[in-house]
Amino acid sequence: MFIFILWREFKLSIAEIYSLFPKAEYVDATQEFLIVDNISKDEITEKFKRIWWIIKVIEVQDELDSEKDFLKFSIEYIEENKKNESWKYNFGLAKYGEIKSDLFTSGIQIKKELVKSKIWSIRFVNKENRNINSAVYKNEKLWGENWTELNIVMIWLNILAGNTIIFQDVDEYSKRDLWKSRDMQVWMLPVKLAQMMINISWSNTWIYDPFCWLWTVLIEAANAWYRKIYWSDIRQDLVDISEKNLESFIRFGDSSIDYSIFEMDVMDIWKTNKKLDWLNIVTEWYLGDIMTKWHVTLERIDIQCKNLAILYEGFFSWLRKTDFSWNIVISFPFWEFKWKFYYFTEVYGIMERYWFKPQKLLPENIEFKTTKSWSILYKREDQQVGREIFKLKRYF
Ligand SMILES: C[S@@+](CC[C@H](N)C(=O)[O-])C[C@H]1O[C@@H](n2cnc3c(N)ncnc32)[C@H](O)[C@@H]1O
Repeated sequence: MFIFILWREFKLSIAEIYSLFPKAEYVDATQEFLIVDNISKDEITEKFKRIWWIIKVIEVQDELDSEKDFLKFSIEYIEENKKNESWKYNFGLAKYGEIKSDLFTSGIQIKKELVKSKIWSIRFVNKENRNINSAVYKNEKLWGENWTELNIVMIWLNILAGNTIIFQDVDEYSKRDLWKSRDMQVWMLPVKLAQMMINISWSNTWIYDPFCWLWTVLIEAANAWYRKIYWSDIRQDLVDISEKNLESFIRFGDSSIDYSIFEMDVMDIWKTNKKLDWLNIVTEWYLGDIMTKWHVTLERIDIQCKNLAILYEGFFSWLRKTDFSWNIVISFPFWEFKWKFYYFTEVYGIMERYWFKPQKLLPENIEFKTTKSWSILYKREDQQVGREIFKLKRYF
């Protein structure tokens, strides 16, 4: 059994894991973590390199009767796992859920016990009663053979204990964060969201964005080891620039990526000679006008919806005429007005009319649910317009 420590947007994090590991058993979840069974360590390590927003994964080793047993568990774990030829051992501790014990005190006690009976040197890396962050984890080399991080996790009345098997590599992430050198535009699809949408679309490693604009999706897909990437846009200038700058954008990509960039009005998608049958579409088109708190009115929302509906009607009706048959992960706008959310309900009817049906984004037996329309919402508190994320499948 494994515990995934989630990102702040926990529903999207769960949806991402659920898409990447559809056959696993989802045992339970809180806003902080997700417990998963029937999954192998190899599978997790294999796919973890494309997940950027899971903080870490813990392998559960034991269920404890009480918090006090964590000391015994930790001592035994370290004694068992320490390789004899080394005289040094670094360890850290972390807790999740309603754990009352003080991590720092526990760590010092564990250290004392171990030092008492052994001659080797033990280092406890937490500096206070707080979980360590990924930078400390990395600097202290807690992923190494004679190093470890041990975790105590409480869910309902169960107490689980285990070791961290994989941790988000923050340095690697900032190394490949090419966005700093680019102009961030107000309406740009947030990079983190793009990464999650890509993984939520998972079923193979082929991706297509028919409204490529600032290339967010394709850069993130390339950097997450997706191997066949198509993108197009109605604007020839965007296509030209992306072709020219490809190398500098996809620094971490390699020559095994098969790209195809082309100019296309999406309304002509049915005429294309490209084969779309094996691609997943991950995209965001128009969200409508930028509206601040002072601009939003119900009339304005209504006008936006009517205008956008004409565009999306075209998109879905033409897409229906192609051989496209995989998933679309797409975001539509929703608006906040006087503490209430207003949705782009016109598009629900359009999707239904052209047989694009929302897919399950979250496993059934956990407590968290999608919206009634099977979507997950993503919105920054200071913005009036949010994004409603759907995973759609075309039915014939
Ligand atoms: C500006 S982005 C959308 C960004 C943001 N989500 C928003 O709501 O403004 C839309 C992209 O779609 C492209 N686009 C617009 N109409 C199109 C069409 N009919 N076919 C293909 N691409 C189109 C634009 O050139 C642009 O790159």
